[in-house]
Amino acid sequence: MSSSGKSIVDLAERRAFREDVITGLTSTPRTLPCKYFYDARGAELFQKICELPEYYITRTELGILRLRGAEIAAALGPDIELIGLGTGAGTKTRILLEELRSPRVYVPIDISKEQLANSSARFRKTFPSLEVLPVAADYLEPFELPLPRKISARSVVYFPGSTIGNFEPAAAVEFMERLVDLAGEGGGLLIGVDLQKDRRIIEAAYNDSAGVTAEFNLNLLDRINGEVGADFRLTDWEHRAVYNENAGRIEMYLVSGTDQTVHMEDRQFHFPAGEKILTEHSYKHTPEGFAVLARKAGFDFQKLWTDDARLFGVFYFTVA
Ligand code: AVJ
Repeated sequence: MSSSGKSIVDLAERRAFREDVITGLTSTPRTLPCKYFYDARGAELFQKICELPEYYITRTELGILRLRGAEIAAALGPDIELIGLGTGAGTKTRILLEELRSPRVYVPIDISKEQLANSSARFRKTFPSLEVLPVAADYLEPFELPLPRKISARSVVYFPGSTIGNFEPAAAVEFMERLVDLAGEGGGLLIGVDLQKDRRIIEAAYNDSAGVTAEFNLNLLDRINGEVGADFRLTDWEHRAVYNENAGRIEMYLVSGTDQTVHMEDRQFHFPAGEKILTEHSYKHTPEGFAVLARKAGFDFQKLWTDDARLFGVFYFTVA
């Protein structure tokens, strides 16, 4: 692609970001979309979150894959096409591929072109007989699946990391309906889901003692300042994360520490002290509740693997 093509894309992305920020900050209650956490600095901070002692999610999902990988691979079956959504560096996918019997095709779909190129090169080297067909796309938007050379027994969509937790339940159903189409007839879905548990464990994971999650949350304001020219003063905002037990979700906020006015172009946003901006919902599901959502989307429950403390679930569904 030409460099002018790239800048058009960047311009369109920036315009969408700007629109989303204005819409969110003028709505009641005020919100900012959590997908914007992940600029370069945000991705780095999220990586640090994954290694925090309080953040059980990543380590528990990895533990399940390591301990139950053989069983998981047996359920998925031999000769499959694996479609990875937002698999990033591919640490979890690699464990899975090592356990799978003669996987034929791997289609990683990721928004970060650089990470995609790096991980694809590594996977080709590690698994020489695997056909790797990376797709640089935002999997929230429509995209086309590449046509593989190799024939596979079935397609299995892999969606790790409990990213599904960022979807409202109705939106999770809609999204999984798209995954039914992606997997196709006879296909499957392997998905990592954070489970409901004692609120103290959950709240600690989003209020780490090192303050990394707070920095991750506040980085969103820094990004808005840098990319759409607002003047948020980061020291006037506070990170807050509370578990809403009835809704089964973490609610993450930025709370105004003072009466203040934020400027952006010719706009002003007034925040009284204590006013909150909702930046993220992270849903925790029960095994039964999540199976119901998947069923509504058109998936039949097959299997659930968890850790001993039942903190996290890796579910396998097949297209109904
Ligand atoms: C990437 C959505 C799984 O909800 O735990 C981590 C994001 N936010 N700490 C999560 C996040 C604050 C994370 N997900």
